[in-house]
Amino acid sequence: MERTAIYPGSFDPVTNGHIDIITRGLKIFDKIIVTILENPAKQVLFTVPERISMLQEVLQKFERVEIASYDGLLVDFAVQRNAQAILRGMRAVSDFEYEFQMALMNRKLNRNIQTVFLMTGLRWIFTSSSIIKEASQFGGDIQSMVPSVVYKRLIEKYNSKKRK
Ligand code: PNS
Repeated sequence: MERTAIYPGSFDPVTNGHIDIITRGLKIFDKIIVTILENPAKQVLFTVPERISMLQEVLQKFERVEIASYDGLLVDFAVQRNAQAILRGMRAVSDFEYEFQMALMNRKLNRNIQTVFLMTGLRWIFTSSSIIKEASQFGGDIQSMVPSVVYKRLIEKYNSKKRK
């Protein structure tokens, strides 16, 4: 049986921390479906097509990775794609409560799908899309935290916002 995991998130935008989790996940799973889903608590910077295009560029080197987006419940998408697991990255303790809540809710919604947490590498422990966007918006140097295509798109995005 092929072991498939959904790696869900906002990916607004994808960071080196996400890529680290995908690299680690590929050691456990045969296939990872990186899936953009809606997080109603977040206001996004990039459109879904923009986020997909960045993911495609960044993840093209991974043969066993697929990119998708889904407008609905994560567990429904997992069933649709015959995935056995949901993969999430865990950074600091501060992630725990939110991740714990989400994993338990997903388990309540579908008991057959397991959430698997992987630790990011130490160098990405403090990176998040939100903090990267904030620093980038005010001209902070975040080049080492995101793939080069994402760095370029962040600069373009904030420059175009300034022109408006
Ligand atoms: O990268 P994020 O924003 O932390 O990812 C959160 C995300 C998108 C995975 C989560 O909000 C999600 O799963 N959204 C889809 C709706 C859903 O199934 N929610 C979980 C049960 S309430």
